[in-house]
Amino acid sequence: MAIQRRVSLFIATSLDGYIADNEGGISFLKLVEAAGEDYGYAEFSNTADTVVLGRKTWDTLQSMGVENPYQDKEVFVISRSGAGKQGSVTITPQDPAELVKQLKNLQGKGIYVDGGAEVVNSLLREKLIDHMVISVIPVILGGGVRLFGEENPQQSLKLLQSKAFPSGLVQMEYAVEHTV
Ligand SMILES: NC(=O)c1ccc[n+]([C@@H]2O[C@H](COP(=O)([O-])OP(=O)(O)OC[C@H]3O[C@@H](n4cnc5c(N)ncnc54)[C@H](OP(=O)(O)O)[C@@H]3O)[C@@H](O)[C@H]2O)c1
Repeated sequence: MAIQRRVSLFIATSLDGYIADNEGGISFLKLVEAAGEDYGYAEFSNTADTVVLGRKTWDTLQSMGVENPYQDKEVFVISRSGAGKQGSVTITPQDPAELVKQLKNLQGKGIYVDGGAEVVNSLLREKLIDHMVISVIPVILGGGVRLFGEENPQQSLKLLQSKAFPSGLVQMEYAVEHTV
């Protein structure tokens, strides 16, 4: 069988497990902004040539004035209400798991799952995420968009590395062991 492309999550969460606050905002990420520190994002980003994200996450990027932060990648925005292609950005109503299964069988670099939680959990339910880089921001949000849902099957993780940064951000990198 041909080697399949790695599907990776690179995402930041509060200590209590939220990727966005009650208003869908991500201003808590500013708590760890530091000049010259990208927390490994550029290096990670180079491992992927394809990005999959949900429409709400795409909207957040747009509302921040970022037209397309993934200029060098093939981008798939999942939305039940939309379909279309503009440049390297495809808006598709496809089920995230079906899309990722198809993409995994194509030639290429890794597949970066940007989020948000709805898309991540659709993929976790089908055991389609192979690798996770989770950055824990030193804050308790008390509510918001929870990263991990409650219907995911058990999946063992192998800790590849963990790093603590002066800002207080703690980053864990895991390989997902699909045998369990
Ligand atoms: N902290 C971080 O690192 C980080 C990273 C990424 C995102 N975020 C935040 O997370 C929040 C968004 O997360 P979220 O979970 O609410 O939303 P999301 O996963 O980004 O987007 C959900 C939307 O994706 C589409 N979708 C999802 N599953 C689908 C399916 N099975 N079939 C067809 N379409 C599907 C739907 O779009 P339609 O409604 O158009 O049909 C759905 O409303 C935002 O606030 C974002 O800023 C944070």
